[in-house]
Amino acid sequence: MILYFTGTGNSRYLASVLKDQLNDEVVSINDLIKNQVNKTFFSQKPYIFITPIYFGRIPKIVADFILCYTFEGSNKVYFISSYYSGPYDTQKYNKELSQKKNFEYMGTYTIQMPQGHIVLTNCSNEGEAKSIIASSTEKVLKEIEKIKTLSPFLEEKTKGKIVSNLVNPLFYTFIAKSKDFKANDKCIACAKCVSLCPLNNISIVNSLPLWGNNCTHCMACINSCPKEAINYGNKTVKRIRYYNDSTYNHAQEESM
Ligand SMILES: Cc1cc2nc3c(=O)[nH]c(=O)nc-3n(C[C@H](O)[C@H](O)[C@H](O)COP(=O)(O)O)c2cc1C
Ligand code: SF4
Ligand code: SF4
Repeated sequence: MILYFTGTGNSRYLASVLKDQLNDEVVSINDLIKNQVNKTFFSQKPYIFITPIYFGRIPKIVADFILCYTFEGSNKVYFISSYYSGPYDTQKYNKELSQKKNFEYMGTYTIQMPQGHIVLTNCSNEGEAKSIIASSTEKVLKEIEKIKTLSPFLEEKTKGKIVSNLVNPLFYTFIAKSKDFKANDKCIACAKCVSLCPLNNISIVNSLPLWGNNCTHCMACINSCPKEAINYGNKTVKRIRYYNDSTYNHAQEESM
């Protein structure tokens, strides 16, 4: 079973690559969290979690999701964790999480995908995004062979443990807040931001979105707005936005 969580669409895209190759069921963790669905999962095939990396670990809401839910059938777990500049010590935390759940840890494959963290920096532009996605899709297609044969991913050498160990907790305590999100008069009240927020943190009030206090900085709202009407204070005004709403289809790719 392939389970993904996404902010800016990269993990959903990667899930579509795996679905195409493994012909396995795909589950959106976003939908389950958003709709507060509690269930027991059953899969005879290994569990595969596909997520972004936030400051050197998979997002806390995904780790909490894995800890809370029950997974029956296969006890093997793979992680595919995407990053833009560096995965840091993500694999250590994935391994610990697997141990807590009595999963057989089959490894973490970290893969570069386009940058979507607009609050921190410029996102990837169209050209860069296309080239990263093309090269990373090829790499993932090769790595999927390990899942097909139930072989482990190779352990990667870790760089930058300080980000995973020290910066990550500081991010959740001090930075992952939504008080600086605001929509301007380009907003057409289409409610796309409302429907994409996995934490139901946005509501439309007097034809404008209003942010509550429950935010994990996934960047779905700000990057997906069709009118680029959302900003985070002033720092995002001139920054490029990135949102991936594509899916992979092997047959289509071949015919192009
Ligand atoms: C809050 C936040 C923190 C991030 N931290 C990292 C990081 O530590 N290292 C990195 O290389 N990329 C980091 N990124 C970039 C994302 O991991 C990358 O763009 C990922 O592919 C996004 O996946 P998604 O589109 O499925 O949300 C971060 C992005 C966000 C929004
Ligand atoms: S997605 Fe953009 S245009 Fe639509 S409601 Fe949100 S801010 Fe307004
Ligand atoms: S408010 Fe925006 S950034 Fe925060 S969790 Fe919701 S969609 Fe993500």
